[in-house]
Amino acid sequence: MNRGAFIRVEGLRKSFPKQGGALEVLKGIDLSVERGETLGVVGISGAGKTTLLQIIGTLDRATSGSVSCDGRELTSLGEEELAKFRNRTIGFVFQSHHLLPEFDARENVMLPRLISGEDRLEAGEKADALLSEVGLSERLTHRVGELSGGEQQRVAICRALSMEPALLLADEPTGNLDKDTAGGVINLLMDLNRKRGLTLVMVTHNEELAGRLDRVIRIDDGRVVR
Ligand SMILES: Nc1ncnc2c1ncn2[C@@H]1O[C@H](COP(=O)(O)OP(=O)(O)O)[C@@H](O)[C@H]1O
Ligand SMILES: [Mg+2]
Repeated sequence: MNRGAFIRVEGLRKSFPKQGGALEVLKGIDLSVERGETLGVVGISGAGKTTLLQIIGTLDRATSGSVSCDGRELTSLGEEELAKFRNRTIGFVFQSHHLLPEFDARENVMLPRLISGEDRLEAGEKADALLSEVGLSERLTHRVGELSGGEQQRVAICRALSMEPALLLADEPTGNLDKDTAGGVINLLMDLNRKRGLTLVMVTHNEELAGRLDRVIRIDDGRVVR
């Protein structure tokens, strides 16, 4: 296994407790991702794709095995260190945008920086720059409900990029979008990878998106099959 990889997963197992035993979801995943690489994850519903992403993203913990990212062994970090690492290194995009409806586009994108203690002016400038980059400079003060599905997802991507993460984890990011809107989001993600060297790990059923990634792995019965 490549020691220099940006993400390195070795012997990852995950089970969830259930009545009368354990549900084994991941049964020994080995995987490495280079910095700046784009990796797709496919597999049938229930295969464990989201679980894998959540563990790489430090939102959930492995049952056993090791996961390292950017040279740090994540399985040995405490909650506080994990939160710090996550905040600095990782951005998340989900199938639904999870934006806060009572706020406008700019405020949603500002939020991670405000939480990290940055002042409103700087956080606002950063948000405006990101939103302009994705073609939303005319939508800064639109509330979430006043944006189209594609615009909402672009705002969610900006929020994920707010802290300038090295890694973007996306779980079916085009799953709720029509074909043309999905195409726009795909172009945006590929652009961000190219321009910023952003490492992308994405669960997707979208063949156009999968076809444009450097590599695609399939999860089947808790294991990686190529
Ligand atoms: N927190 C949890 N507790 C119990 N079972 C879970 C939990 N999260 C996921 N599972 C189960 O793990 C399996 C894989 O789920 P998931 O990773 O969401 O699959 P996918 O994203 O590939 O559709 C499913 O059978 C699901 O029901
Ligand atoms: Mg899933």
